[in-house]
Amino acid sequence: MITRLSVNINKVALLRNSRGANLPDLTQVAKDCEAFGAQGITVHPRPDERHIKYNDIPLLKEVVTTEFNIEGNPTPQFLKLVLDNRPTQCTLVPDDPGALTSDSGWDTIKHAGLLKDVVAQLKAAGIRVALFVNAEEAQIEGAKEVGADRVELYTGTFANQFLQDREKAVLPHRRCGELAAKIGIGLNAGHDLNLDNLAFYKSAVKNLLEVSIGHALIAQDALYFGLHNAIQLYLRQLR
Ligand code: PXP
Repeated sequence: MITRLSVNINKVALLRNSRGANLPDLTQVAKDCEAFGAQGITVHPRPDERHIKYNDIPLLKEVVTTEFNIEGNPTPQFLKLVLDNRPTQCTLVPDDPGALTSDSGWDTIKHAGLLKDVVAQLKAAGIRVALFVNAEEAQIEGAKEVGADRVELYTGTFANQFLQDREKAVLPHRRCGELAAKIGIGLNAGHDLNLDNLAFYKSAVKNLLEVSIGHALIAQDALYFGLHNAIQLYLRQLR
């Protein structure tokens, strides 16, 4: 099973915004990530636009030729952005407006009403929908119940526990992978995946369709190895 690498380019936008001009050029970086082997580009616009800006999205939509994935909390403003730009995939994330980063998934049972409506709206527009969830079997079942095409498992907790006990850390993910295959919902994963933990994660979790990786790839590995080498190294972990 091929696991696709979607590169999250939020950190590239953060660097650009730090000087106010267009360096680095976000759309060029997206094109280069693809040329270097990335099979998708992920962006996570947040309401304060501290990295990806809302007006980056149409420009990226024009140049991305692989899979374009937009993540975020389904506020009316976010949904308009997604529906206007029709990415391949929209990953719904329950993050607070001021959150430093996403650190927890949906309660797909408690928020079933909202999720059902939003999922239906996006799917009717031809957009694949993933729900960001913690690695808990009840959440996978809840995601299936509201009509989502996929879940994205939050891997931050796995990454934190990886150095202490990797088998224990990956067990809930392994179980969720098996359940997802059984009930017929696709499986993505993301957050804090890196060159140390990715190959192990991929080997332990079956049916993993996609990983989205930003922070370690852009802020560390691309800095040391260059973007082309960094992407190739991540692809190698997924083989
Ligand atoms: N998935 C979601 C929902 C995220 O919010 C993020 C971070 O923006 C990622 C994946 C990627 O995580 P990281 O930047 O740690 O690779």
